[in-house]
Amino acid sequence: MRAVAINEFGGREKLLLMDLPVPEIQGNEILVRVKAAGVNPVDWKIREGYLKNLFPHEFPVILGWDAAGIVEKVGSQVSRFRQRDEIFAYCRKPVIQGGAYAEYIVLEEEHCALKPKNVSFEEAASIPLAALTAYQAVFDAAKLQSGETILIHAAAGGVGGFGVQLAKDRGAIVWGTATQGKHEYVRKLGADRVIDYTQVNFCDVVRSEYSDGMDVVFDCVCGEVLDRSGEITKKGGRLVTIVEDPGGLGRTDISTEFVFVAPNSAQLTELAQMFEQGRLKTHLSEVFPLDEAQRAHELSESMRTRGKIVLVI
Ligand SMILES: NC(=O)c1ccc[n+]([C@@H]2O[C@H](COP(=O)([O-])OP(=O)(O)OC[C@H]3O[C@@H](n4cnc5c(N)ncnc54)[C@H](OP(=O)(O)O)[C@@H]3O)[C@@H](O)[C@H]2O)c1
Repeated sequence: MRAVAINEFGGREKLLLMDLPVPEIQGNEILVRVKAAGVNPVDWKIREGYLKNLFPHEFPVILGWDAAGIVEKVGSQVSRFRQRDEIFAYCRKPVIQGGAYAEYIVLEEEHCALKPKNVSFEEAASIPLAALTAYQAVFDAAKLQSGETILIHAAAGGVGGFGVQLAKDRGAIVWGTATQGKHEYVRKLGADRVIDYTQVNFCDVVRSEYSDGMDVVFDCVCGEVLDRSGEITKKGGRLVTIVEDPGGLGRTDISTEFVFVAPNSAQLTELAQMFEQGRLKTHLSEVFPLDEAQRAHELSESMRTRGKIVLVI
């Protein structure tokens, strides 16, 4: 099968189009013919070797943790999926090797859910990792309630964009940060207010309206943004991060949590239903053919995209 994989860690030039064997399935596994693969920042972080001490890996490593496709074969213990089902999946596995930048991928039931009927395979491949991250951060970790205030950093990005939509769907008052050119986009996602973080200090803007700070801050950027986010999280509020552990902010009167997204078939099914009900939308920044994975990584590495990047297999 055609796959884009790496034989060693390094720059974009390490991404090679290879001819690799179609993987075999065990009884609890599903073979999926991949139609589209989502591209996420974690893909180039893995490619560079930044995660090599966190996860075991086996070369050649086929990258890609987001897939949408058609079930080709199911193992004898698989009960929830059948041949020809159209699925989408968040594909993180204990060992990094068999990813989604390939014509076939082996998955377990927990990775998969039936694809929302009203989205294309390309759109479906853009959803699982980013939407599950937002769900687990905003709902599971922050436990956002209707009527609460939330500030989402990088609201125009893949994760932040789903965070805005989920928070609005829950009935929260949603603020986001983005550069000026993306404000209309973020407002259309549901944000009540968007702050151009390059022009003003977001802490000043928050304090001018909410002197006690926000109930929840969801930080998809971190670094000095995280340090300042600690200052505008309300006493008793929640600060959730996904890039860096928020420990050590020097606040004992707020709760802080780092979320690392986990596969969750039930949550992915719930997200699929929200798409079908028109409560969530995905926005494709750019779609590339598989053999242009290097260009897709270049775009992702810019950290300036609006919405999601996808590879068509
Ligand atoms: N822990 C986890 O489970 C997990 C899961 C998913 C992602 N992540 C990590 O979370 C980060 C975001 O992921 P993503 O997929 O959303 O990335 P992405 O889609 O590439 O994010 C791009 C967006 O970031 C915005 N941005 C960049 N710097 C910013 C800043 N200082 N303030 C506000 N916005 C800023 C850009 O908007 P402007 O151009 O308008 O600035 C752009 O729209 C990545 O580092 C990724 O690796 C972690």
